Amino acid sequence: YYIGVDLGTSAVKLLLMDQEGQVVNIVSREYPLSFPHPGWSEQNPEDWWEQSKEGIKELISKIDATEVAGISFGGQMHGLVILDENDQVIRPAILWNDGRTTKETDYLNQVIGKEKLSEYTANIAFAGFTAPKILWVKENEPENFAKICKIMLPKDYLAYCLTGVHCCDYSDASGMLLLDVKNKCWSEQMLEICGVSREQMPGLFESYEKVGTLKPEVAKELGLPETCLVAAGAGDNAAAAVGTGTVGDGQCNVSLGTSGTIFISSENFGVDPHNALHAFAHADGHYHLMGCMLSAASCNRWWMDTIIGTKDYGKEQEAIENLGENHVFFLPYLMGERSPHNDPQARGTFIGMSMDTSRADMTQAVLEGVAFAIRDSFEVAKSLGIHIERTKICGGGAKSPLWRKIIANVLNIKVDRIASEEGPALGGAMLAAVADGTFASVEAAAAKIVKVVETVEPDPEIAKKYETQYRKFVQIYPTVKALF
Ligand code: XUL
Repeated sequence: YYIGVDLGTSAVKLLLMDQEGQVVNIVSREYPLSFPHPGWSEQNPEDWWEQSKEGIKELISKIDATEVAGISFGGQMHGLVILDENDQVIRPAILWNDGRTTKETDYLNQVIGKEKLSEYTANIAFAGFTAPKILWVKENEPENFAKICKIMLPKDYLAYCLTGVHCCDYSDASGMLLLDVKNKCWSEQMLEICGVSREQMPGLFESYEKVGTLKPEVAKELGLPETCLVAAGAGDNAAAAVGTGTVGDGQCNVSLGTSGTIFISSENFGVDPHNALHAFAHADGHYHLMGCMLSAASCNRWWMDTIIGTKDYGKEQEAIENLGENHVFFLPYLMGERSPHNDPQARGTFIGMSMDTSRADMTQAVLEGVAFAIRDSFEVAKSLGIHIERTKICGGGAKSPLWRKIIANVLNIKVDRIASEEGPALGGAMLAAVADGTFASVEAAAAKIVKVVETVEPDPEIAKKYETQYRKFVQIYPTVKALF
């Protein structure tokens, strides 16, 4: 068996896969997310570890645990975890959707300069990336900065607790703005700009490489064999791409999780000249381009849980049928926005309501607003000459047949649903299986394991209506931007 750990923002999802690639069990455990100030977002790394341990015990409770041969991860990206010399977490992790680093991001993009950043790392600075967070700690919490002995990303904290090895994989490291993505090594210039040394940085691995085995005391506590290997794993988007078979060249995956991403795999290294899309390493040993919106399924969750007050998302969607004709629009920027606006100050907006507007129209606008925002990144990819005819889909939002249909029609491409929406957790388990030699490569694992179970085709009439709607949508943000 192999365990895949999806260290998400709302919960950790754990998946047990057998040697044939069959999913045997899935367990999910939540932990708190705190917003100490508007636009800030933090979590406690100890909570991740505690819930992951409990989750693993539950996950393997009905099998012969001595047969678990490997563990790996898909982890929320970019989050800054810092440990002191006694391996204690210095402060709560500052997460990928935290927008406090406007000043540091501006410094990097304007004073160091986008051209230099792109030369050093293949990317420019976005508020959620790790390097601006390091600069923020340096400036605002010098006493904490002075204590830093090890810097790591969220899933790497779990790998560290499991094995004692301070590691990171190339896909996740790409989002730190400290990695020379093309050459797959730390950028000396970026380390210097951030005031950190190589010793504080983790060792680099391919996602499917073994970093170590379980510490004896951890193996004992979890009831797993000491021989159980831990593979480096990947950022959740790269892991999700593995779990949906988005590997090799020119494949696409849309993820509707807390964040929303569009992920395009590529065998060769390539950069978006305007840097609206991230140019990162992939978990299959190659590269990818990615657009990331900060609030996707979380917009619907906010609208359903906090505003409407229901848990029955499916029922709210039953009344929606006039696709492409909604007069209400929604800007999904509840935590600011990354791709393509790079604007931590952006906020959510409803526009276009009239006396006959219904609750269903508003719900529909939320789903559509997310789809339009994904299309913004899709348009950037098209402008680079990338031709995409179909995409996979994963994440909690992918469970909604209506949302899948909206995505297919707004992007006007085929949407392939695979058996499991648990992209990152499945991808994590697959990476462990590759590290263990069960599959010769990530591509081979994907070819064996990932099966498309349904394809949503766009409807030409609806797609045409959405084309007109999208033209309106793109005008809203520039019009209201000055108000945020
Ligand atoms: C990607 C990103 C998000 C997180 C979500 O750049 O910030 O997709 O990885 O966990």
